[in-house]
Amino acid sequence: MKSKASSPAKVILFGEHFVVYGVKAILCAINKRITVTAETIKENKIYIKSNIGNLELEPNKDISEINSPLKPFYYLANKLLENQKTGIKIDVESEIPLGVGLGSSSACCVAGAAAISRLFNKTSKEEILELAIEAEKTIFENTSGADCTVCTYGGIMEYDKKNGFTKIESEPNFHLVIANSNIEHSTKMVVEGVKQFKENDENRFSILCDKESKLIEDVLDLLKKNNTVELGNKIRENQEYLETIGISNEKLRKMIQIGQNKSFGAKITGAGGGGCIIALTDESNLEQTLNQFKEDNYDCFSVKIDFKGLDTF
Ligand code: MEV
Repeated sequence: MKSKASSPAKVILFGEHFVVYGVKAILCAINKRITVTAETIKENKIYIKSNIGNLELEPNKDISEINSPLKPFYYLANKLLENQKTGIKIDVESEIPLGVGLGSSSACCVAGAAAISRLFNKTSKEEILELAIEAEKTIFENTSGADCTVCTYGGIMEYDKKNGFTKIESEPNFHLVIANSNIEHSTKMVVEGVKQFKENDENRFSILCDKESKLIEDVLDLLKKNNTVELGNKIRENQEYLETIGISNEKLRKMIQIGQNKSFGAKITGAGGGGCIIALTDESNLEQTLNQFKEDNYDCFSVKIDFKGLDTF
């Protein structure tokens, strides 16, 4: 028996870091996918093959003893095998770089949960999402589940800690150029740095949160109107706030500058400190933005919003 599923990756369009303190964030799924193929095998083993390495283990290991980014797959396979004497072979293919803040781990969890669970049952999207979040918790204990949700359902979504997720029904047609700094970053450490910033000046941080909240309300309106130029200005404004809270660095600033010069606006996406930036474009400035990043030797590619979400084969 063989089963295949694919999930889009995601970017945070607005609101990273401030979301930790209750402000809304806006996320969208992007049309770069992770595809997982799962197959039942006679041998009582779990094999996982991916472009960041392989994992080969007997079932029923203590999950806390597994030190591998592929741990969520092991968790899912082991859970769904339910002490059966057979095993599972998993193959992961990715169109995006892994571990650079583009939601690769969530996309892996969603596609993995779908491919593996469908070897045994016909699972619904809701059940798959639940399994995916459980699996993601084996690597990010405090995940909000926002990334897995947007990867499962696709499109654009607003999220805040109090009210959870709401799908945004607009279908804007912008393109994003994503450029990778290739600087490794630890989300946990960058989030800790922002906490320090907040504790050093509560008043200043609270003013920034208010400004970010107002910005997000404006963005929700601009998304409905499909106003890409004004959205670009909001991206620039959001980047200023991210700069203020100290999550940028020299290389990221250089990349943002290229993006600001060629596109409607550019900002860090995700935790910062490294990872990727996004630049907002449409047909009029997509090529020139991509070409400039390429000329300056940055790894980059363009994406559109993915409205499909999880796909199963
Ligand atoms: C990281 O992708 C997003 C942050 O806002 C952290 C979080 O929301 O948990 C920086």
